[in-house]
Amino acid sequence: MVNIDSLQRIRSLATQMPTIAEMFVADALRADWLTVDACGLHVDFSRQLIDKNLFDALCKELTQIGIAHKFEQMFAGEPINITEERAVSHVALRGSGDESKSALAKEQLRRACALAERIRSDVDVDAVINIGIGGSDLGPQMVVKALRSFCDGPVMRFVSNIDPADFDEAVEDLDPRRTVVVVSSKTFTTLETMHNAHRARTWLRDAGVDWETRFVAATAHREAAIAWGISKDNCLEFFDWVGGRFSVSSVIGFPVIVAVGEKHFREFLAGMSLMDAHVCQTSLEKNLPVIHGALWFLNCVVHQLPTVAVVPYSHDLSRLPAFLQQLVMESNGKSVDIHGQVVSHSTTPVVWGEAGTNGQHAFFQMLHQGTQVVPVEFVSSVAPMGSDGVAHDLLIANMFAQSQALATGRKGVSPHRDFPGNRPSTVVMLDALTPERLGALIAMYEHSAAVQGWMMGINSFDQFGVELGKDVAVDIAQAMSQGVAHTSQTLTHPLTNWFLKKKRH
Ligand code: F6P
Repeated sequence: MVNIDSLQRIRSLATQMPTIAEMFVADALRADWLTVDACGLHVDFSRQLIDKNLFDALCKELTQIGIAHKFEQMFAGEPINITEERAVSHVALRGSGDESKSALAKEQLRRACALAERIRSDVDVDAVINIGIGGSDLGPQMVVKALRSFCDGPVMRFVSNIDPADFDEAVEDLDPRRTVVVVSSKTFTTLETMHNAHRARTWLRDAGVDWETRFVAATAHREAAIAWGISKDNCLEFFDWVGGRFSVSSVIGFPVIVAVGEKHFREFLAGMSLMDAHVCQTSLEKNLPVIHGALWFLNCVVHQLPTVAVVPYSHDLSRLPAFLQQLVMESNGKSVDIHGQVVSHSTTPVVWGEAGTNGQHAFFQMLHQGTQVVPVEFVSSVAPMGSDGVAHDLLIANMFAQSQALATGRKGVSPHRDFPGNRPSTVVMLDALTPERLGALIAMYEHSAAVQGWMMGINSFDQFGVELGKDVAVDIAQAMSQGVAHTSQTLTHPLTNWFLKKKRH
């Protein structure tokens, strides 16, 4: 954790800093030392609110808190998730770190690929529905969409919400006799997922389908899936040392394997593994996830900018902001440090965003002229992601223009038409949106989230904050099933009783 004294020193350096435009003039090499190339990613941090002194101070702090050692502990499979006494070993899923865990993962990957191949080559299967939520939905859904141009398997649908409309819409045009259902759930207890799995089972049964042959489970609780009725052969396993939001490289990626095939999924894992090697072997100042994490920390904790907009200039990456919301905010949305003491600084930024150029015609007004400064993370690819090269160049020109306009601003026209400028952004360019580069990008964000948490001094790997609302929902659902909420039960009993009354009439 960056201690209070260091934080004050870093804050005082930050307040003395010139503007981004002035720093570009003063330092001709700025774009060089603030750009990192790694694993097919070119990341330009030069329009961030940082100068050489501040950068050096951050690097010194990263050394001081032992970032390299923390990664060593993670890769060695030590129980760094201390509140749950668990290892954090998602890197073993792609062959990095702990060999015995990698061997377990390799066997499950082999089983997943074989099963996926059977589904892909089954002429009686048109569609696959993944039922899962949070990490059991956001990762695979984002990757399937991002790898659209590699998809050659059956139609893929994702159902996550307990809102019945989600399931209804997903199956609207599907034939239950020609559909496979994947129940993705680490715990195999999640309310939304289990309810939707029941609906899917009924949907298949009602069509006279031998449903057991058409259900697959991806879970860390195999016994629960088998008890629910899924055949042993169709139960794919992952492990309690993989957090839900870090699980896309486990068998939670099964829908991706079905969609793009084994070869491309293995390339995706290879890209993650490349980034794992990079994070372990590269010095701090050119270590992409470390510098990325340190700069998100800088914006959030030092400059005290409470949100970050993730704006992929890529239609195919449009689910990236949603994926990063869980990865970053579920990891670092904490108020106590790793020892349970209340922290005295802010923790995670609020992550939000939408694909560009669409965002330009919606919230960019606020980014340029609003009273809140919002760091922006632009993400795109050098190679066109669609069939129109001219449109792709226009897309990229727009992205670069936004980054420049945010940084330079414009003065002297009129109060309404002036732009304050000095607004930070990063540009992340993949050389192409391939499985391997996408894997590297996701691994970068996974490691960056860990770096931010270590700098903030919190445990990024538990998520107790999701529990209270789930417990209360059970009580309210029970009251609803009984037709009345008692005054002693909840602070929402007037609302619950109003709802029940309204429903009756
Ligand atoms: O409620 C949050 C959460 O536990 C996430 O951490 C997780 O990704 C999601 O729910 C789904 O959990 P499961 O995979 O166990 O169904």
